[in-house]
Amino acid sequence: MNSHEIYNSSIGTVESVSPDAIKVLLDIEAPQSTSINTGIPQAFPRINGFLLIPNEGGAIIGLITWIGIEYSPYPKRKGYKDFDLVDLPFPLRKLSLSPIGVLKEKVDGYEVERGIYSYPSVGDVVIVPNQEQLKAIVENKEAGAKIRIGVSPLAANAPIFVNPDKLFGRHLAVLGNTGSGKSCTVAGLIRWSIEGATEELETEKKKAREEKSREEKKVNARFIILDPNGEYSEAFSDLANVRRYAVKLKEDDQSVEQLKVPAWMWNSWEWASISQASEKTQRPLLRRALREIRNKGNQNVDPLAETKVELRRYYTSCWTEIKNDLDKGITAFKGKGKNNFGKKLKSIVTDVENDSDEIKDESIKKAFDNVKEVLSRIEKNKFKIYQEEGETVEYYDNFEKQNLEDILQSLNGFLESLGGLLIYQGPDEDTPIFFDNDDFLGHLRRIARQQTSQQYIDSFIMRVESLLTDKRIASVIHTESAEEKTLLQWLNDYIGSDERQPSITIVDLSLLPSEILYLIVSVMARLIFEAHHRYKKLNSDVLPTVMVVDEAHDLIKQYKIADDSISSQQLCTQIFEKIAKEGRKFGLGLVIASQRPSELSQTVLSQCNTFLLHRIVSDRDQEMVKRLVPDSLSGILNELPVLPSRKAILLGWAAPVPVMVEINELKTEQRPKSKDPDFWDVWTGKAERERKVDWREIVDDWQGQGETHEKKPNDDANN
Ligand SMILES: Nc1ncnc2c1ncn2[C@@H]1O[C@H](COP(=O)(O)OP(=O)(O)O)[C@@H](O)[C@H]1O
Ligand SMILES: [Mg+2]
Repeated sequence: MNSHEIYNSSIGTVESVSPDAIKVLLDIEAPQSTSINTGIPQAFPRINGFLLIPNEGGAIIGLITWIGIEYSPYPKRKGYKDFDLVDLPFPLRKLSLSPIGVLKEKVDGYEVERGIYSYPSVGDVVIVPNQEQLKAIVENKEAGAKIRIGVSPLAANAPIFVNPDKLFGRHLAVLGNTGSGKSCTVAGLIRWSIEGATEELETEKKKAREEKSREEKKVNARFIILDPNGEYSEAFSDLANVRRYAVKLKEDDQSVEQLKVPAWMWNSWEWASISQASEKTQRPLLRRALREIRNKGNQNVDPLAETKVELRRYYTSCWTEIKNDLDKGITAFKGKGKNNFGKKLKSIVTDVENDSDEIKDESIKKAFDNVKEVLSRIEKNKFKIYQEEGETVEYYDNFEKQNLEDILQSLNGFLESLGGLLIYQGPDEDTPIFFDNDDFLGHLRRIARQQTSQQYIDSFIMRVESLLTDKRIASVIHTESAEEKTLLQWLNDYIGSDERQPSITIVDLSLLPSEILYLIVSVMARLIFEAHHRYKKLNSDVLPTVMVVDEAHDLIKQYKIADDSISSQQLCTQIFEKIAKEGRKFGLGLVIASQRPSELSQTVLSQCNTFLLHRIVSDRDQEMVKRLVPDSLSGILNELPVLPSRKAILLGWAAPVPVMVEINELKTEQRPKSKDPDFWDVWTGKAERERKVDWREIVDDWQGQGETHEKKPNDDANN
C-alpha cells in the first residue's frame, strides 16, 4: 500500500490495543455517513463494516463493533493546536474494531489470511478499504469457494461465495427467529449448490465434446430433507429427481409417495424406546424375540419349511434358555422362588403338547414324541402338591444338573430332526431383516409365557400389540411381504441411486402422529448413517450426502438423562449427536435450521463449524449463539436482533472472515411455504378455499380408530 493511498483514505489512529478489541480515535474530518474517497461511495462508519490497519506484513482487517462519542480533554486536530490552550472536554468520535484477519497484497490481487500474528501499536493509521480490497475481504477467494449465496451490502455488494466442502463437510447451523428466512436460506443453499455444480459440469462437458474424451456425467449430489412442517414439498418442483414422502391421506394421491419405515427396520434400541421396555425383564425378552424372528436360517422349497423354521426358532430359543440356566449353575434351576425353573419347564411342556397335537405332518409329530416324554417325565417328577389348612399348595422340588442335561439332549435331538439348532447364523437383533409384524407378535407372546414375572410382561406385550395394530401408523410401519419394500429399495429411494442424480429427497413429517415421529426419524437417520458407514467400509471412499433438519430444536432437542428408560425423543437426539460427531468421516454432512438454539442439543450445535445467523431477538438465544464464537467476534453478533429478512451473518469454518450476507432472492415458487393460518381471509371469505365445518366426517374417522384395538391379529400361538 503506497503512502498516497494511506493518506487519502485515512480516517483515524489506533488509540488502544487488546487481543479482542482495538480502539480507534477518528479524525475530526473523518466522514460522518458516507466515505467517498475510496472510489465508489460507501457507508461509513457503519457497524459490521471493515477497516484496515496497514503494517509491514499487509493490513490487519478490523470489523467495526462499536461506534460512539467520548468526551476527552485533549482533542487532536491537525493544524488547530489552540484547543490545547482551552482545556475543555471535547466530543470525539471513536470506534472499536475486532481484528479478524490479515489482508495481503499478491501479484494478482489481495488475499485474506485468518488470524492475527502481530498487533498494531498505538498511533498506527486506520484506513477505509477501497473497492478491490473490500471485495477481496468478503469474497472468499479460496479455490473451493464455488457456491454463490449472496452479496455483501457492506462491501458494495461484492458477491459472497462459499466452499461446499467446508459448508456441508463440517456441518452448518442456520439459526434465527421464525420468519427470519431460515427455510428459504436452506432451500436456496440446496438449489444454488446443484446449480453451481451443474454449471461447472456443463462447461466441462462442452470441453469434453471437443476433446471427445470424457463421458457424460450427472451431478452426483444427494440431499435429504427432514421437513417437520411440510414446507418444502413444492420448493423444488421445477427440478428433476425430487422425491417426496409423506403419510398419504388418500391411497390414490399421486403427488407424494407413502412414507415407509417398516417395523422390521427398527433395531432393538428403537423397539425398546417405543415400547417403553423396562431394562431388567422386558428388554432382554424383546431382544431375544427380535433376534429369533430375524433368524430364519436357510429356507428351501420344502412345503413344511415355514412350520419347521417356526418350530426350530422357538425350540432353539427354549434350548438356549435352559442352556443358560445350566451354565449359571445350581441356583438357576431351583423349583421355588424367583428362579422358578419348574414353571418355565411346565410352559415348555404345554407348548410341546399343543404343537405336537396340532401338527399334521406325521414325521414332525413323531419327532415330538421323545421330547414330550422326557420333558413331562422330569416335570412331573418334581411337581409337588399337598393340602395345608384346606388350601392346595403347589410347588416344584429343586431340579438337578442331570435333569437339565437330559432336557437339553432331547430338545437337541428334536431340533436335529428338523434341521438343527437355529442360532447365531449371522443376523442379530439389530439387523434390518424382514419379518411379518404378526409373526413377531406371536413369537414374542410365546416366549413371554416362559417368563416368571408375568405381570410385568403382560403390560409390555399389550404396548407392542397396540403399536403394531394402530391404524394411524400402519401405512408407515407395515409391509405386507418381504418384497413390498426391501432394504435395497429403501436405500435407493431415500438416499439416492445412480439413476437419480442429483437427488433431493423430501420427507414430510407433518402428518406423522407425534408418538411415532421421533422413532421414525431416529430409524431413518440411523439407517442413513449406517449406510454411509458401510459404504465407506466397502468402497474405502466416502459418499458425500447432506442431511437437512428443519425445526431442529424439536427433532434434536437437548435432553436430560433421567433414569434407565429411553424416550424415543432422546434416542432421536442421540442419533443426530452421533452423526454430528462422526458423520464427517463417512461423508454425511448436517444442515440444521432452528429458531430456538438454546433448546438444541449442545453436542450437535458445538459440532457445527459454520453458522448462518438470521435475526435473533430472544436474549437467551443470543447468548447461546455468542457462546459459539470467540469473544473477539461477539461484537458482530450485536446486530442480530435487528437483521432484516434475507440478511444473515455468515461466520465460521466456511467464511474466512465473518460477513453480513444479503442472501440471494428465491422466486416465490421456489420458497418453502410456511403456512401461517389465514384468519382474516377466512373471516372475510377471501380465502382461496372456503372453510366449511363438517365434524361428522371427523368424528367417524376419529372413533373408527378405536375399534382396531379390539380386533387382535391372528395369533396361532395363543390357543
Ligand atoms: N432468500 C429469500 N428469498 C426470497 N424471500 C425470502 C428469502 N428469505 C426469506 N424470504 C421471505 O421471508 C419469509 C419467511 O422466510 P422463511 O424461510 O419461511 O423463514 P423461517 O424459516 O426462518 O421461519 C418467506 O416467506 C419469504 O417471503
Ligand atoms: Mg422455517
